[in-house]
Amino acid sequence: MASLFTSFLLMLCLFVVPSLSSDPDPLQDFCIGDLRASPSINGFPCKSSVSASDFFFSGLGSPLNTSNPNGVAISPANVLTFPGLNTLGLSMNNVEFAPGGVNPPHSHPRASEAGVVIEGSVFVGFLTTNNTLFSKVINAGEMFVVPRGLVHFQSNVGKGKARLITAFNSQLPGAVVLPSTLFGSVPEIPNAVLTKTFRTDDATVNNLKSKFAV
Ligand code: GLV
Ligand code: MN
Repeated sequence: MASLFTSFLLMLCLFVVPSLSSDPDPLQDFCIGDLRASPSINGFPCKSSVSASDFFFSGLGSPLNTSNPNGVAISPANVLTFPGLNTLGLSMNNVEFAPGGVNPPHSHPRASEAGVVIEGSVFVGFLTTNNTLFSKVINAGEMFVVPRGLVHFQSNVGKGKARLITAFNSQLPGAVVLPSTLFGSVPEIPNAVLTKTFRTDDATVNNLKSKFAV
């Protein structure tokens, strides 16, 4: 009888204890991350001495160098580049596109994303877990959202360059960039897995791997 009661209590706990997987709330006004220390389970320990400069960051400036195969460049303001974000559950990116540039399909496992177009015309899309694509071309001053963890991309469809500022509800949202995750991992995903997955041959997989090898 007692064990039945214990099992019932356990079941109850499983259903009523909320599952929280976003960044936790801060327990103090601020906690500038001490990046020299090892990160603890959730973020960095606080620096002992703090000054005004810890709360400012000038790394989101423009222009970035977009001369690369995707024609896109990203400068991140996250806890690793701007330790003032430690424990605040926030981060931002400056994303710049050459004409025709593409920010390839990727997802952020720890954050939803909100973005605003600062310059140009951008085709923005995300995919649901049942493979429905929601997409739109948006222009300067227009905003988009991507729900947490969903695969998304952007492409510059205007004549000139384009620029976005994106924001995340995590100090370190993480990015799983599908092409490099699948074809540029170390060690490699075996060809047998990739040829079967993509219903293709070794030559095609080797060709893709050669483009994403690090
Ligand atoms: C855009 O998708 C970004 O992650 O900044
Ligand atoms: Mn993104």
